[in-house]
Amino acid sequence: MTTHSELLSRCQAALDFAAQQVRRLVETNPDFFPMYTQGGRWKHGGEAWTNWCEGFLGGQLWLLHRHTGDAWFQTQAEHYCHLVEERKTDRAVHDLGFTLWPTWKRWYDLTGEPAKNAVVIQAGQTMGLRFKEKGRYLRSFVADDSLFIDIMMNVGIIFYAAQQTGDATLLRIATEHCLTSRRFLVRGDGSTSHEGLFNTETGEFIRQSTHQGWRDDSSWARGQTWALYGFGTAYRYTGDVRFLNTAEACADFYIERTPPHGVPPNDWDEPNPTLPYESSAAAIAASGLLNLARLTGDAARARLYGDYALRILDTLTTPEFLAVDTPGWEGILKHGSYHERKGLGVDESVMWGEYFFVEALSKVLGYVEQGMG
Ligand code: GLY
Repeated sequence: MTTHSELLSRCQAALDFAAQQVRRLVETNPDFFPMYTQGGRWKHGGEAWTNWCEGFLGGQLWLLHRHTGDAWFQTQAEHYCHLVEERKTDRAVHDLGFTLWPTWKRWYDLTGEPAKNAVVIQAGQTMGLRFKEKGRYLRSFVADDSLFIDIMMNVGIIFYAAQQTGDATLLRIATEHCLTSRRFLVRGDGSTSHEGLFNTETGEFIRQSTHQGWRDDSSWARGQTWALYGFGTAYRYTGDVRFLNTAEACADFYIERTPPHGVPPNDWDEPNPTLPYESSAAAIAASGLLNLARLTGDAARARLYGDYALRILDTLTTPEFLAVDTPGWEGILKHGSYHERKGLGVDESVMWGEYFFVEALSKVLGYVEQGMG
């Protein structure tokens, strides 16, 4: 049984290791935006599927600057912010929260400069353009008829833009997207579907579907964590208790279905999964549960979520997951998976796993309170 002070030391050591790995990545491959490793190495010619990971490196640099106090991390974080600035008008993907929040919002928080805030606001406004009035959702990068649970992690930047500008239309869009996701992607037992498909002519919901899970009616673990984190963010902006209840239902499902070490497989419903772990889902869950522990008004739940987040980090800071004893491994966290069906980044380090692991560790050590959104 790890004591709290031992766990804090392990979190410190894990961030020291993260700083070393990220510094090596940036110095070895300047201006390169990795997505997943192959055999533990970041640079390879593997397919991306979509471009959604470019904010996670700059975001880690900001958090590691906070941890190390080393000016090198700030200089690099600013540089990597500039490299992604043009994405504030990108209409091709639904991931502008992932791209602009860890980078420009963290920079704005540090400086308070309105020009930096304007980048974040513009990204939120661009995200709002994805809204389909028929169906009332923000469309995924795949097609007009497609709603992804992942978008719950990117709707926060629209709430933020609405709050900063007083734009009631943006607030309505973000709220309606969350209500639609809650109605059609979150099931009665608190599990989630990856995708919902709609009739674009009428807005009628047709069916649930998946890209990265086992089956259309199954429970893809990372989607579950996008939901538990994202509905918590929606509650923080709106105070609408329906979103808090949904976040809690998603969190409870995660806790019920995951082994005691806190790391789920890629999909809970897949019989005899080939791999036991999807560590990036665990890292996102840890960070989202730390948010929920603050957001919930229920003391027992706050304790459950906070303790469970620490349990996940206890597991992820062991050498089975932390690559500290794996010579030549360039990532921080092993046993993540991107897209098992396509065979992309399976049992590897993945960039969002690295980011949310560093974010969760930074919260435990008191460097930051909130994360995305
Ligand atoms: N498409 C985002 C994810 O892999 O979670």
